Amino acid sequence: MARYDEIADFYEQRSGKTVGDPATAALLDLAGDVGGLRLLEVACGQGRVARELARRGAALTGLDISAALLAKARACEAAEPLGIGYLNADVTAKGVLEDQVFDGVVCNYGLSDIDDLDGLLANVARLLRPGGWFVFSLLHPCFPGWDSDAPSSWPPDQGYYQEGWWLAGNSGYRGRVGSSHRMISTYLNSLTGHGLALDRAAEPPPGPQMEQRRPPGSVPVPFYFAARCLRR
Ligand SMILES: C[S@@+](CC[C@H](N)C(=O)[O-])C[C@H]1O[C@@H](n2cnc3c(N)ncnc32)[C@H](O)[C@@H]1O
Repeated sequence: MARYDEIADFYEQRSGKTVGDPATAALLDLAGDVGGLRLLEVACGQGRVARELARRGAALTGLDISAALLAKARACEAAEPLGIGYLNADVTAKGVLEDQVFDGVVCNYGLSDIDDLDGLLANVARLLRPGGWFVFSLLHPCFPGWDSDAPSSWPPDQGYYQEGWWLAGNSGYRGRVGSSHRMISTYLNSLTGHGLALDRAAEPPPGPQMEQRRPPGSVPVPFYFAARCLRR
């Protein structure tokens, strides 16, 4: 069973079906005009980004390891058909989507949920045509945390330089499924190592809803990170 299977309802409730949050908006902006493109969304969850990209004219495949979240994505596709094909698979598995080629791959809030970064990036690079793009967003690896419901990107008792999977001690989804912390340099070096060259990056601020949670008197800190990389 995948980690998100047990919290599929909770996650959908938390993240919603819309794409207006700052990190997702930045990802869509970095993807640009997608009309006519063949795209893959990895770690697509309930499919909210795949649906938006399909509405914008792309041909979409969505892939996720969680059967429960994919059931939600497929139910949306049945209610409002957009031609999206969904695949229940581990994106880090050797040979996944063998022989397929995409113009772009997106991953929204997924990198820190995927245990094997090298396995993921090797497959992304293999599945992209030369010149194709990989666009992702995630909670900023440098976010220091505000409160129990907005925990730091890293285990608070170990600090930023300690990489690895950890479980936040809260009732939010990071406290239920955990996440893999990696330094920003690890992400950038791994992307380069897999032939994915940084083209543009964005660090969207938290937005009005999350901003209310910033401790009084504290200064703004990195909150989201998004980037577009080109396959060499
Ligand atoms: C935070 S959710 C993001 C869902 C969606 N992209 C969104 O924007 O709401 C992270 C997703 O990563 C998926 N995931 C984690 N490891 C995976 C893997 N190895 N292969 C495919 N999907 C994976 C989880 O099942 C979950 O749906």
